[in-house]
Amino acid sequence: MDKLRIIGQSQLNGELHAAGAKNAALPILAAALLVDTPVIIGKIPHLRDITTTMSLLGSMGVELILDDKMRIQVDPRTIKNFLAPYELVKTMRASMLVLGPLLARFGEATVSLPGGCAIGSRPVDQHLIGLQALGAQIEVKAGYIHGKVKGGLIGTEINFDIITVNGTENLMMAASLAKGTTILRNAAREPEVVDTANFLNAMGAKISGAGTDTIIIEGVDTLHGGEYDIMPDRIEAGTYLIGAAMTGGKVKVKGIKSEVLENVIERLTEAGAMINCDEDSITLDMKGQRPMAVDIETEPFPGFPTDMQAQFMALNVIAEGTSVITETIFENRFMHVQELQRLGADIKLDGNKAIIKGVKKLYGAPVMATDLRASASLVLAGLVAEGETVIDRVYHLDRGYERVEEKFAKLGAKIYRQ
Ligand code: EPU
Repeated sequence: MDKLRIIGQSQLNGELHAAGAKNAALPILAAALLVDTPVIIGKIPHLRDITTTMSLLGSMGVELILDDKMRIQVDPRTIKNFLAPYELVKTMRASMLVLGPLLARFGEATVSLPGGCAIGSRPVDQHLIGLQALGAQIEVKAGYIHGKVKGGLIGTEINFDIITVNGTENLMMAASLAKGTTILRNAAREPEVVDTANFLNAMGAKISGAGTDTIIIEGVDTLHGGEYDIMPDRIEAGTYLIGAAMTGGKVKVKGIKSEVLENVIERLTEAGAMINCDEDSITLDMKGQRPMAVDIETEPFPGFPTDMQAQFMALNVIAEGTSVITETIFENRFMHVQELQRLGADIKLDGNKAIIKGVKKLYGAPVMATDLRASASLVLAGLVAEGETVIDRVYHLDRGYERVEEKFAKLGAKIYRQ
């Protein structure tokens, strides 16, 4: 099992390109099941979750061709079965995203229930209620969701009880091939939902309102193939910007628009960072200063993203002052706290709040990655800690950060895979 060794106390300086967004690539690869001629998807990030999705689609018989520019051609016409097995779904919950497209296009799907995961129980009831409202027959038995559609899905109005990103994407994909109009209310507004809608529209779907809480989908008979580039990864970009803020450095992330990171940029400015945004880059300059502590509360977009909570906690851990971080999206997304404490962080947990007293110094230690974003917070903490930090179970990090040690090293970090 790979480990990352970090020798701390170097400053991050330089430029990097944002990778394609994992959380847009996953629904868009699933959406490719809906088309009736091949699609070419570009700017695919080089990640473990992408490999898992390719294995999943490949196991169904879908033809996939990956070229050297990380473009994937997907041809669903060779599909032979409609099964997402437990072995794959348990390693990546986003496998659930094939459920809507399979039911809409092929009228049949068997998808394993994802079960719990490191950041909470994460039910999928909203996906299932929505698909039933569109006319799918759903039975949950022996750990599997068995779905069937007789005579095609039929558009309707669906009001989500809670805001769900993958739930919104699943229903938007399914409704694209339903008869008539579907209205999704209380829909997720995340940029990745918008990117998925843009992909579907480029293939002939009729979706409006993505990016607002009401999405209207006029069903069409077929979707065609084409070419589409995935949006840049705002969470990856934000992680490197936080790294610069923590180490007092200056980092420019290219290929990303500031509007997808507005809330994070505001909080980093409160922490004392000078931030400059142009057409498609964000530059953060900390001018050698120690950051100031900032209170954070996670919310659905456009609020502060839960996927940046752990990384911002790493910043608050070494910031001047005391801060409170409130996690409102997931019930158990504080697994990084104990590991950060091993490095010397002063954090107390009170329900869904973490109270953090900034310390002047962290000290390197062996720590363990527990989930994707928790791992990122440990890398950031390791960068500022005195001495050596060794992070075990790096496979969590490889799910969502491409060439992570290479990118950090290019910015001046002493980070090695072993
Ligand atoms: N929820 C339900 N019922 C449902 C669906 C969700 O109760 O049917 C609850 C969840 O348990 C959670 C909340 O609603 O408490 C929000 O979950 P959501 O469905 O929005 O999460 P998701 O779609 O499964 C995506 C991202 C996550 C990101 C969340 C929130 C992908 C592949 N994953 O998950 O990304 O944290 O939205 O923004 O898009 C990550 O990249 O590290 C990651 C975990």
